[in-house]
This record gives sequence, structure tokens and C-alpha cells, in this order.
Amino acid sequence: MRQPDLPLTIRGYQPRDQDRIRELTLEGFDGVSIDQNADALLALDSEPLWETRKWAGVQAELEASPSDHFVAELNGEVIGYITTHPQPAAGIGLIPNMAVDARYRRRGVASRLIEHALDYLRASGMRVAKIETLVQNAQGQTLYPSFGFREVARQIHYVRRLDDA
Ligand SMILES: CC(C)(COP(=O)(O)OP(=O)(O)OC[C@H]1O[C@@H](n2cnc3c(N)ncnc32)[C@H](O)[C@@H]1OP(=O)(O)O)[C@@H](O)C(=O)NCCC(=O)NCCS
Repeated sequence: MRQPDLPLTIRGYQPRDQDRIRELTLEGFDGVSIDQNADALLALDSEPLWETRKWAGVQAELEASPSDHFVAELNGEVIGYITTHPQPAAGIGLIPNMAVDARYRRRGVASRLIEHALDYLRASGMRVAKIETLVQNAQGQTLYPSFGFREVARQIHYVRRLDDA
């Protein structure tokens, strides 16, 4: 956890943020995406490629429950975002996606977003917060434990082509 040194504003997501969130998503998840790993492994080189699938997933989240997501703004520009998904029946609040503009990393932006998301999930009545990261994502594996998250399991994702190319 790092104290931010930037004059950030954390505010609720608005539909007008979508284009910027798409940019942050495609920049941020390049190199740390299950879909990208699958495309490379299976030599998939036609649409829908990982960028299309990743954005479709984030966009669906944004549109399904606009009030559950937050952005970090610096001088009017969105430089990071975080999505949440409270699951009242389970009492578990998911944090499915987050990215910070590469120009502003290691300045405490994600820390502010995570704090905000945890407060939001707590206020929504959740008793547990859950977040996932890839073994190949060094950032996540340092960041989340610093917020008190504890590792509970490792999962293996398998893929195969169905056209046997
Ligand atoms: C992960 C990510 C959101 C972190 O954003 P950030 O604003 O740079 O994070 P913070 O500045 O709040 O970092 C807080 C702490 O996290 C850890 N951390 C962040 N980036 C790290 C890195 N590249 N390597 C190791 N630890 C890192 C450090 O402990 C850091 O504290 P420190 O800078 O005092 O050492 C950002 O790197 C990102 O957008 N990555 C690409 C997308 C992604 O991985 N999203 C999460 C998917 S699970």
C-alpha cells in the first residue's frame, strides 16, 4: 500500500468514461491477460482477439451495474479505474478489474482505488472481498497482500482449439 502523492479525485464511473477505460484496459492487461495467453498458445490471429474479448467483459460489467465502479481522475483526466461486483446472497464483493495509466504507476493510484472499493463493498454489506491475479502478474501479488488479502487457491486454466488447426 502506498500513500498517493498526486491530487487525485476518486469518483463514480459515468458512461462517458468508457472510451478512456477501454484504453486503460488494453494498455494495462497487455502481458497479464488469460485471453492473451490463450491467443498466443493457440496461435489465434483472427477476431475476436484478446483485446476484443477483454474489453467486452469489462464493458459488460460497466453496463450491468454502473454504480459499482470507480475512476481516479487527475486534473480532469481519468488515469485509473476499478470495478466491483457485490454479491449480496454470498456476502462476497468481487473486484474483477482494475488498471492504472502506465505513466502514473507506483504513485499510489491503485491503492486509493482499492481503499475506495473496499469501503464501498463494506458499506454494501459484504463481509468478504475477493480479487484474483495471475502468477505472471508481479504487481498484483505484491499489491493485494499489502491490503490484507490472503491467498486461498491457485487455479489452472486450460484451452484447446476445436478446429484442430
Ligand atoms: C496493478 C496496478 C493496477 C497497480 O497500480 P499502481 O497505481 O501502480 O499501484 P500503487 O502505486 O498503488 O502500488 C502500491 C504497491 O503495489 C505494489 N506494486 C505496484 N506495482 C508493482 C510492480 N510493478 N512490481 C512490484 N510491486 C508493485 C508495490 O508494493 C506498491 O507499493 P510501492 O510502490 O510503495 O512499492 C498497475 O500496475 C496496473 O494497471 N497494471 C496493469 C493491469 C493489472 O495488472 N491490473 C490488475 C489485474 S489483477
